[in-house]
Amino acid sequence: MNNPLCRITDLSVGYRDRTALTGLSLDIFSGERLAIVGESGSGKSTLARTLAGLLPDDAVFAGDIRWSSGQTPSLGRDLGFVFQDTSASLNPVLKIGEQVAEGAKRHLRMTWQAAYAHARNLLEHVRIPNPEAVMNAYPHQLSGGQRQRVAIAAAIASRPSILIADEATSALDTVVQAQIVALLDTLVSEAAMTMIFITHDIALASHLADRIAVFKDGRLVEIGPAADILSSPKDEYTKSLIEGHYDLASTPLISAGRRP
Ligand SMILES: Nc1ncnc2c1ncn2[C@@H]1O[C@H](COP(=O)(O)OP(=O)(O)O)[C@@H](O)[C@H]1O
Ligand SMILES: [Mg+2]
Repeated sequence: MNNPLCRITDLSVGYRDRTALTGLSLDIFSGERLAIVGESGSGKSTLARTLAGLLPDDAVFAGDIRWSSGQTPSLGRDLGFVFQDTSASLNPVLKIGEQVAEGAKRHLRMTWQAAYAHARNLLEHVRIPNPEAVMNAYPHQLSGGQRQRVAIAAAIASRPSILIADEATSALDTVVQAQIVALLDTLVSEAAMTMIFITHDIALASHLADRIAVFKDGRLVEIGPAADILSSPKDEYTKSLIEGHYDLASTPLISAGRRP
C-alpha cells in the first residue's frame, strides 16, 4: 500500500481518572473506509476526538500522529464530523439552511447566496424530501433520521477529504440506520473521501468498511480487511462480537467490504 494519510504511533490518551487509549499504532490510508468497532468505553470516541482535535483540555496525550500533508486537518474544513447526537452538530435556534450554508460560506469562500444554493443542493443530495421547506425549518421540526441527514449535509458542506462518523446511526431505528449507512456509502464514494466509521456494531461495520479495527479496553486487538476479520477473526474478542450476529457467523463475507 502507499503511504498512509495518517500514521498513529504508540498513542495513549487519558482523562483525569482513567486511561482511554493505550499504545495505539494505526495507519489510515487515503480513500479507505476504516471501521472502528468495539463495545462502549473501548476508546473509539477518544480516537475520533483526538483525530478531530476535540479532546477536552484536561486530557493527557502521548505518542505521535503524523498526517501526510504535514498538517493536522482542520475540523469543519478538511475533516467533517458526524456525531451520534445531532444536538452536538446542529444549532437548535438556527434555521437549517443557514447552518448547512455556513461551512460552505466560511471554507469555500462562497457568497452567502451561493452558499445558500449549495446548501439546498446538499439537502437534496442527502435525500431530504422537500428541501426548500426544510431550509427554513429548525432542527426540532425534523425526525431523528432527517436531522442526521442534515448533520451529514452540514459535515460535508465544506467538501472535506475526511469524514468521521461516530456512532452516527446508533440512535436511529434499524430501517433508518440502514438508509443512513447507504447514504454515507454513496457520499463517500462520490467524493472519494476517507471515512472513519465508528460503531459498536460489527455487522453494521461490515456493510461499509474496507478494513475493520477492533478495540477493547483502549487497545487495538486486531485490524484487517473487513472480509478477513469476519471470516477468520484471530482474536477471541472479535469472535465473540461476530458470534453475537447470527448472520455474520453463518453466512459471512458477501456484503463485507466494498472493494476487492
Ligand atoms: N471527557 C471524559 N472525561 C473522563 N473520562 C472520559 C471522558 N470521555 C471518555 N472517558 C472515558 O474514557 C473511556 C473511553 O471512552 P470513549 O472513548 O468515549 O469510548 P467509546 O466511544 O468506545 O464508548 C471510558 O472509560 C470513558 O468513560
Ligand atoms: Mg463513543
